[in-house]
Amino acid sequence: MAGVTFSRVRKEFAGFLAVEGLDLTIEEGEFVSLLGPSGCGKTTTLRMLAGLEFPTSGEIRIGDRLVNDVPPGQRDIAMVFQSYALYPHMTVGRNMEYPLKKRGLPKAERKAKVAKAADMLQLTELLDRKPSQLSGGQQQRVALGRALVRDPQVFLLDEPLSNLDAKLRGYMRAELVELHARLGRTMVYVTHDQLEAMTMSNRIAIMLAGDLQQFAPPQEVYRRPANRFVASFIGTPSMNLIDGQLSRSDAGWHFTSPGLTLPVPALRDSAKAGDACLGVRPEHVHLGHGDLQAKVQLVEQTGHENIVVLDVAGGNRLTGRTPSSQVPQMSEAINYRIDSDQVHVFGPGDTGARLNADG
Ligand SMILES: Nc1ncnc2c1ncn2[C@@H]1O[C@H](COP(=O)(O)OP(=O)(O)O)[C@@H](O)[C@H]1O
Ligand SMILES: [Mg+2]
Repeated sequence: MAGVTFSRVRKEFAGFLAVEGLDLTIEEGEFVSLLGPSGCGKTTTLRMLAGLEFPTSGEIRIGDRLVNDVPPGQRDIAMVFQSYALYPHMTVGRNMEYPLKKRGLPKAERKAKVAKAADMLQLTELLDRKPSQLSGGQQQRVALGRALVRDPQVFLLDEPLSNLDAKLRGYMRAELVELHARLGRTMVYVTHDQLEAMTMSNRIAIMLAGDLQQFAPPQEVYRRPANRFVASFIGTPSMNLIDGQLSRSDAGWHFTSPGLTLPVPALRDSAKAGDACLGVRPEHVHLGHGDLQAKVQLVEQTGHENIVVLDVAGGNRLTGRTPSSQVPQMSEAINYRIDSDQVHVFGPGDTGARLNADG
């Protein structure tokens, strides 16, 4: 088994900087997601680890071994692509067997490994079918099976679930978590879906425009997002982000925006009065009581709760949640309260750092 280390890894494509000075250490056996919006450099990072792209500078290690110049076939990794990349003319069994055949393993050993992987992924009944005779979810499992038979040091997965419908995606998330627990292998998983990253990972590496923003366990990323971008990317409905001003009095720090003045928790020494952004998770906007006033703009009933969008004074909008039994009326004037112990304060700009002292 092996972990993975990126040291100051940069990747330029004809003058375009796709990945910028990436430092990332993935522990042996860890499940790490690379998460970020489209174009932020996730696939490029994974392809450099696979040996399908070469870094412009920096070092990549698998275990202790520097792999910058090691061809893909000798890196002891297996990659699963979004497109599955199955051979249409081969049966499921032959598809899974193929990488072993290429490595020259004897037939009996190949059969045994395929049977074991097929059993693990519930593919045994399907071994004689062609990919075209399978559902999307089954094809994805075959692609996984083909990686599994190789028993690599590191599994690389690039958005493997994004072609599946929502229900199957949920099911496959659970299967992958179980598979990781069983195999205990290092897995690097690329996704733009924060829910996948949150539910499956030991740690999440969040990227924006080729730049790593935060690398931390899911709950840490949720509770203490490193900056405004991370805060906006993690959680649904997303965190309320309100631009305004930070000021300090004898009573402590305050945040002010048109129609809203709020005390905020202790901030770092580096916090300065002036432009700032307030972050409030919808679960910390409490409706039906409190001394702030708003108008209900929208109510979405999801079944077990309601997502409520409020128009607050000064043109700001806030999203809150209520239990399913508490359904506000559209256009209703409503009192609300913000849990000021739970708010986040960010510096100005998209990557304005979180200023709370507990970070
Ligand atoms: N072979 C390439 N040539 C030029 N630009 C590329 C190439 N591959 C990726 N890029 C660019 O690098 C950036 C990162 O791409 P990618 O790693 O695929 O992003 P992600 O997987 O996060 O969506 C994008 O702007 C993309 O257009
Ligand atoms: Mg990609």
